[in-house]
Amino acid sequence: MPLFITFEGGEGSGKSTQAGLLTRRLEAQGVSVLLTCEPGGTELGDRISNLLKWGDGISISPIAELMLFNASRAELVSRVIKPALAAGKTVVSDRFADSSLVYQGYGRELSLASVRAASSIAAQGLIPDITFLLDVPTEHGFARKGSAKTDRIEREHADFHRRVRDGYLAAARAEPDRWVIINGTLPEATVAGRIWQAVQARLSQRTG
Ligand SMILES: Nc1ncnc2c1ncn2[C@@H]1O[C@H](COP(=O)(O)OP(=O)(O)OP(=O)(O)O)[C@@H](O)[C@H]1O
Ligand SMILES: [Mg+2]
Repeated sequence: MPLFITFEGGEGSGKSTQAGLLTRRLEAQGVSVLLTCEPGGTELGDRISNLLKWGDGISISPIAELMLFNASRAELVSRVIKPALAAGKTVVSDRFADSSLVYQGYGRELSLASVRAASSIAAQGLIPDITFLLDVPTEHGFARKGSAKTDRIEREHADFHRRVRDGYLAAARAEPDRWVIINGTLPEATVAGRIWQAVQARLSQRTG
């Protein structure tokens, strides 16, 4: 099976930048790659994403939020990620199930066991081969994003975002074989170099 690579981290940590750079670099090597992003990436997922991010005035309880992210994820896994992997494509995803563990588990303080159970139904057995955690102090990430319009989750208070950062570090340390923690405050090219090295190492393990 080709690699399934995910990018995780708080707001403005550089996930989309690095997911794009890695995708282009793999493509330049002749690797067939599919880049996806959560929430969204399907017709249903895009509608759910819109509701989760911009559904102003609609109250969404933490458990409903968990289920909505997972409904979007289930659709993406079934219709996009699994078929791509089955066709031999490497898949790069800008966020995946670990985002729910951290945002709905650590951030919203739902039980980690129930968040894991819900995500595992949605992920249908799919576990990333490598997950990059781009770690940046929360204020740093927000400062980078500047004054762009903020969505419902970005608007959460500072404590929520600090729990997210700590949650990511705890999740990554608990599964060191899968996660690669990178200091996301380093220059873009340095971060990209470390990511490339880790992907190459994983590919050479695969080919023995
Ligand atoms: N290593 C870096 N050093 C400095 N600035 C960076 C770096 N990586 C990304 N940026 C800039 O920081 C901003 C946020 O980056 P990006 O959108 O990739 O983060 P993200 O994690 O995808 O954010 P979001 O949470 O909004 O999805 C962008 O303006 C980007 O150009
Ligand atoms: Mg992004």
